[in-house]
Amino acid sequence: MARTGASEWEWVVDVALTALDMAAGIYQQINLTIPGAAWKRCWTVAPGTSGRQEYSPAEPTVSGASSIMLRFKPAWKNFVNPRLASLQPYPFEKLKELVKDVTPNPALAPISFGIGEPKHATPALIQRAMADALAGLANYPTTAGSLALRTSIAEWIQRRYGLPKIDPATEVLPVTGTREALFAFGQVVIDSTRPDPLVLCPNPFYQIYEGAALLGGARPYFANSDPARNFAPDFDSVPDDVWARVQLVYLCTPGNPSGSVLTLEDWKKLFELSDRYGFVIASDECYSEIYFDEARPPLGGLEAAHRLGRGFERLVMFSSLSKRSNVPGMRSGFVAGDPELLKTFLLYRTYHGSAMSPVVQSASIAAWNDETHVLENRALYRTKFAQVTPMLAEVIDVALPDAGFYLWANVARTGLDDATFTRELLAEQNVAMLPGSYVARDVEVNGTVVNPGRNYVRIALVANVEECLEGARRIVEFCRRRK
Ligand SMILES: Cc1ncc(COP(=O)(O)O)c(C=O)c1O
Repeated sequence: MARTGASEWEWVVDVALTALDMAAGIYQQINLTIPGAAWKRCWTVAPGTSGRQEYSPAEPTVSGASSIMLRFKPAWKNFVNPRLASLQPYPFEKLKELVKDVTPNPALAPISFGIGEPKHATPALIQRAMADALAGLANYPTTAGSLALRTSIAEWIQRRYGLPKIDPATEVLPVTGTREALFAFGQVVIDSTRPDPLVLCPNPFYQIYEGAALLGGARPYFANSDPARNFAPDFDSVPDDVWARVQLVYLCTPGNPSGSVLTLEDWKKLFELSDRYGFVIASDECYSEIYFDEARPPLGGLEAAHRLGRGFERLVMFSSLSKRSNVPGMRSGFVAGDPELLKTFLLYRTYHGSAMSPVVQSASIAAWNDETHVLENRALYRTKFAQVTPMLAEVIDVALPDAGFYLWANVARTGLDDATFTRELLAEQNVAMLPGSYVARDVEVNGTVVNPGRNYVRIALVANVEECLEGARRIVEFCRRRK
């Protein structure tokens, strides 16, 4: 800042924002005040740029003032959606913080059971279909996707869940992965003009549900998923006056992290509640194709509705190729169910702008039409889980889940809580995982605050068999030393 020019009040202020400033907000607001003056100036500067403001002598002057003060503050507080401030840090940010001063044992190669990213090879048939479709880069896709894609998805749903005709024109929409779709769907369903809107989420849960609720102007209400009900959310614990305000229920079946699959009885109860209170059900089924008994594929939401003799009113399911076909980078999934809801969702998506690339659409058709690679993928997971689960069961409380690729293990036997277990395991054995309390929220149950993820760790068995076995051996050694 420098005083220049002839007039006492002609100032030039140079502003160079630092990386720290940039982290604090999208824009920075700079307030200029002069002690004793009745006026002030303020302007905004984009982060990473330099700003220059010149003050003309025409500004009112203040006799006797000897300084000017500059205050910097993140401008988002003033003009960006304030709901953003209610978002919680993502579990992996918390994990980074937890282990920031940990030096993983350098004598051992790192093994990550932390992030749930599929690591099996992408099938060649999908890569080929994508390469063959590159000409599609020349076209804008429609938001609803091609009829060919919607038809292959509709036929897959019919085959997989034993359902009669699914209408590809009205009952299916392609999405660019379930993450964006689960979030976007919340923005469509939540009516924040109604008093105190609530979104019911399982607990533990996938954090996108909470973010969708908060940014949609609702509050999440957590129904604990604990072992007493095979980790199904405790719908019975939800009071009537809460149900009356619930607009949307997110479900995750098979669940992340527990792998548990809702039963037909669970669905029956939830449908009855939805009929009584009018809420919408969003069933996240992105882990549906990873299970261990070929004779018992996980029950789906649309399948449950059909088996109970009802239609799809107020019900949609979300599915994805990321885990089924080992293409998390392709961003391809679908939402299916209630045609009225899908019509509104399509309208929203037209503006939101998340149409699937024609190239990805072609590769997705190849993936949904083929089941051989899915069987092979499941066989790999079956081998891993069959070997790793009994090894770990010797030292921590863990069992084969209904489905999915996580072990949800209780480590209380070691005398360590989930965060301490995670830190010390990384330091001693260079094995990473996620503390259970980071994917759950504290809630009050009968006057006591509980976190249903406490003492649990989430172990993602995504690496190859050898690496998973080596990781399991190290966990066993770590736990044995603690006894
Ligand atoms: C429960 C759950 N739902 C949805 C997703 C998003 O998956 P995708 O966007 O790849 O379909 C994930 C990703 O890990 C998940 O764990």
